[in-house]
Amino acid sequence: MMLAQCFLLLLCLPSFATALLPPPFVNYRPIIGVLAQQSETPDLPGDTYINAEYIKFLEFAGARVVPILVSKPASYYKAIFSKINGVLFPGGSVDETRSPYALAGRILYDLAIQAIDNGDYFPLWGTCLGFQFLACATANTNFLNHTDSYNMTLPLQLSQDYKNSRMFGTAPESVMMYLMNEAVTENFHHDSVLLNRFLNDPKLTSFYRLLSYNGDRRGVHFVSTFEAFDYPIYGSQWHPEVVLFGWATDHDITHSLHAIAVSQYIANFFVTEARRNKHRFTDPEDEANSMIEKHRLFYLNDGTYVQRYYFNSTHN
Ligand SMILES: *[C@@H]1O[C@H](CO)[C@@H](O)[C@H](O)[C@H]1NC(C)=O
Ligand SMILES: *[C@@H]1O[C@H](CO)[C@@H](O)[C@H](O)[C@H]1NC(C)=O
Ligand SMILES: *[C@@H]1O[C@H](CO)[C@@H](O)[C@H](O)[C@H]1NC(C)=O
Repeated sequence: MMLAQCFLLLLCLPSFATALLPPPFVNYRPIIGVLAQQSETPDLPGDTYINAEYIKFLEFAGARVVPILVSKPASYYKAIFSKINGVLFPGGSVDETRSPYALAGRILYDLAIQAIDNGDYFPLWGTCLGFQFLACATANTNFLNHTDSYNMTLPLQLSQDYKNSRMFGTAPESVMMYLMNEAVTENFHHDSVLLNRFLNDPKLTSFYRLLSYNGDRRGVHFVSTFEAFDYPIYGSQWHPEVVLFGWATDHDITHSLHAIAVSQYIANFFVTEARRNKHRFTDPEDEANSMIEKHRLFYLNDGTYVQRYYFNSTHN
């Protein structure tokens, strides 16, 4: 009798497992959407862009990529959402709540929440600006504060709870040792989700498991990694793709083997999440025409960015 009760309790309580159990792989041809954003200046070769590092990051892990343009009608996002297996919100420099990136992102975020609530495992990843966008979308307000954190390479200060996470709970021990003890994460942000503000916001603490935080140059703590408890939604304030594919000459980016191992782990983790739903293109021609390869890659080498895809969002 006692034994049976214990057994039942173990089954029911998600105390040491994660709340959300990832379903098995159902798709070995994941296609991930990456959101574009407005170009910084009008003299560039297109009105919107995606930095090539994000594309390579996903391709490295076995995914194909479809660009998602901004300033399109809701029907465009709804259609694309049904064909792709995940979305990556990249870093950049547009407004986190009011830009076309944020407005398009909000439509995709809402579609993902709705789909996941209906049992569809649709993962989202936000890097840097994308991370900030996710926090703002969940809080439903601009949740950012200025920090002195641009151009810092840092180890993560892991939360106590990281072991219960999907992202880090089953990561190789070596990856966790590197993350904890070595400067393997690249930070290029002027805004942050402050740790104290996060911890005092029930909307964010009930939605996201805090995985790590860091201090800026003044010792102000910001959230550096989170994942949603009940949704396959993940964010890093740091840039794993830059360690692998970023060769900016005016920054001191680490390319240590340990930083590369961490970044490759993250790419594999996210693309693996995208193998767990069956969204697909129904028309092979539409599929082929939607791929990033159809778009023009430009060589910048301006000191910060090496390669970019540019788009004219208003025309194509
Ligand atoms: C963070 O930003 C909010 C909104 O702008 C502001 O009210 C708050 O004082 C800021 N907090 C800190 C610690 O700077
Ligand atoms: C970034 O930091 C490195 C030193 O770690 C420095 O050499 C470089 O000039 C900095 N770049 C920028 C753009 O701040
Ligand atoms: C965008 O439009 C401008 C002006 O017509 C053109 O010069 C540029 O090549 C276009 N960019 C792309 C990526 O097609």
